[in-house]
Amino acid sequence: MAAPLLEIDDLRVGIRSNAAAEILRGVSLTIERGETLAVVGESGCGKSLTSLSVMGLLPDGLEKRGGTIRFEGAILPITDNEAMRRIRGRRIGMVFQEPMAALNPVFTIGDQVAEVILEHEAVSRADAMARVVDLLARVGLPDPAQIAREHPHRLSGGQRQRVVIAMALACRPDLLIADEPTTALDVTVQAQIMRLLQELQRDLGIAILLITHNLGLVAQVADRVAVMYAGRKVEEAATAGLFAAPQHPYTRGLLAATPRPGRRRAGEPPLTEIPGVVPSVTELLSGCRFRPRCAFAGDVCASVDPAFGGRVACHFPQTVELVPGVVT
Ligand SMILES: Nc1ncnc2c1ncn2[C@@H]1O[C@H](COP(=O)(O)OP(=O)(O)OP(=O)(O)O)[C@@H](O)[C@H]1O
Ligand SMILES: [Mg+2]
Repeated sequence: MAAPLLEIDDLRVGIRSNAAAEILRGVSLTIERGETLAVVGESGCGKSLTSLSVMGLLPDGLEKRGGTIRFEGAILPITDNEAMRRIRGRRIGMVFQEPMAALNPVFTIGDQVAEVILEHEAVSRADAMARVVDLLARVGLPDPAQIAREHPHRLSGGQRQRVVIAMALACRPDLLIADEPTTALDVTVQAQIMRLLQELQRDLGIAILLITHNLGLVAQVADRVAVMYAGRKVEEAATAGLFAAPQHPYTRGLLAATPRPGRRRAGEPPLTEIPGVVPSVTELLSGCRFRPRCAFAGDVCASVDPAFGGRVACHFPQTVELVPGVVT
């Protein structure tokens, strides 16, 4: 059997100056060619740091302490900077969490997207520019030749996000990592961007690692969902199964806090927030880190951090369907 496109195994990341502070506490994720894996969880759960680890772009002050990341079987990050640079951008495209930071206000859109192509491929500037116009059309921008001549500040937030996606796709990567690609956008534009990602996936066959805490979007686009809590994966399942019968109390809490327009049924409980907050990485807490917020916790949860057992990392997984009869 061919190796998965991306395989993250037991990834551990900590704070360099604090040996006790572990931020990613053994994250394992797999992405096959052409599929969409959504990684969800509240703010601070380690979603962005997981993707930055793949790109070899951990912020200063953090260190990888263990685990392996493989891309098509090859271990990342490759220590040869040049080879890593070729993978980044060319094989793996990334849409970072702050889209404005990805665009330089001084240069035109066309020059910036062309630069990505010129960095990775031996083509003429004119050929690169022709491809830029095609790409801008591909991501649904009207009058792409005109947009290529504009500076970023002349574009709307939604248009800029399309440009950032075009940059990530410029060298036809096999994997697109999109970290909160729609958060800064209004709801209508969010839906457009998600439709765009789905189309690109269908047409280009790229795999997508979609990081978000918006479960409504996940339900529409993901094949599988991994739920992260406090630096660990606590549940993973095919999207329909996860939404119909989430097993981890944390996943159930996230779903109960998510509005599901048009899908309310009689008997579905009203929206409720999960009580409490994600513990900080320096907070000492034995056993399961979700325990202080969990209505199902028992004695064992205070002493033993539950291992991930294929579907869920929980001593008391819940098996009753959250919304009986509703399968997404
Ligand atoms: N440079 C850093 N130094 C110390 N701690 C950091 C650093 N960067 C991130 N962290 C901590 O690591 C944890 C995980 O951060 P990360 O950015 O991966 O979260 P996230 O799940 O992407 O959250 P969000 O949904 O807000 O984007 C957070 O608790 C954060 O405070
Ligand atoms: Mg993040």
